Amino acid sequence: MRATPGMLTEREARFLALVAACAPAQGVILEIGSFKGKSTVGLASVAMRYGLGPVITVDPHSGPSVTDPDVGPRGSSWDDFRASLRAAGVETAVDAHRAYSRDLAGGWTRPIRFLWIDGDHTYRGVKDDIDLFRGHLVPGAIVALHDVLHSFEGPVRVFSEELLGSDLFGAAGLCGSIGWAQYRPSDGKRWRNDRLHLRRGVARLIPFVKDGREPKGFAKLRYKLWRGLVPHAAPDPAAWVRAVS
Ligand SMILES: C[S@@+](CC[C@H](N)C(=O)[O-])C[C@H]1O[C@@H](n2cnc3c(N)ncnc32)[C@H](O)[C@@H]1O
Repeated sequence: MRATPGMLTEREARFLALVAACAPAQGVILEIGSFKGKSTVGLASVAMRYGLGPVITVDPHSGPSVTDPDVGPRGSSWDDFRASLRAAGVETAVDAHRAYSRDLAGGWTRPIRFLWIDGDHTYRGVKDDIDLFRGHLVPGAIVALHDVLHSFEGPVRVFSEELLGSDLFGAAGLCGSIGWAQYRPSDGKRWRNDRLHLRRGVARLIPFVKDGREPKGFAKLRYKLWRGLVPHAAPDPAAWVRAVS
């Protein structure tokens, strides 16, 4: 993963690998948003090592990205994505769909054990991604969203409203800018107090990034202060596994 270009930090990359290996559910790993393949390489390496079957990825690899023009490459990221998979030796562990997530969702029938959302960062885009695939989560599955602590409206709002605010989900937290929650439709309310406590800290960030605006001046300072108060340290792997078991 280190050798692959992309936006994940080391602790986020390690956390993704932990979730891919240890999410306590049967089903596939689905990645929405691959860019040049940094997260894909991590997920696929774990899938290969533990015989978890191919990682399904979906990304139009159009460039620049319509939804995220600052992040997209000048041209398509497709060639770089394929080159990353080849260099890491994980080509056979990836089933790549060159499409938008909504197009893949149309014919989707497979149970999901890990849903990794890092595609369209607008509110509509992230909300659609969770709405389109939530019905396919297996009890025990993990949903993770990237860029919850960055200045995009979608990830922070959907994490706060759809995951932390819902009794369909149990344990939840952040590692770096990755917000995650475990799908626990039958007993998620047992974690309600913890989720709502975390939500109070996370929800304070939403007005600062509304409509994809970057906070400026004094607002930026306040945003950074509130953001620093949201717990987002890397979890101890054994403790994390116990929390979701
Ligand atoms: C932040 S990048 C992904 C980074 C990648 N996960 C990594 O580890 O480097 C966002 C990607 O999402 C893709 N994207 C944007 N809208 C999408 C959508 N509706 N469905 C799938 N992918 C989308 C863009 O083409 C872009 O490559």
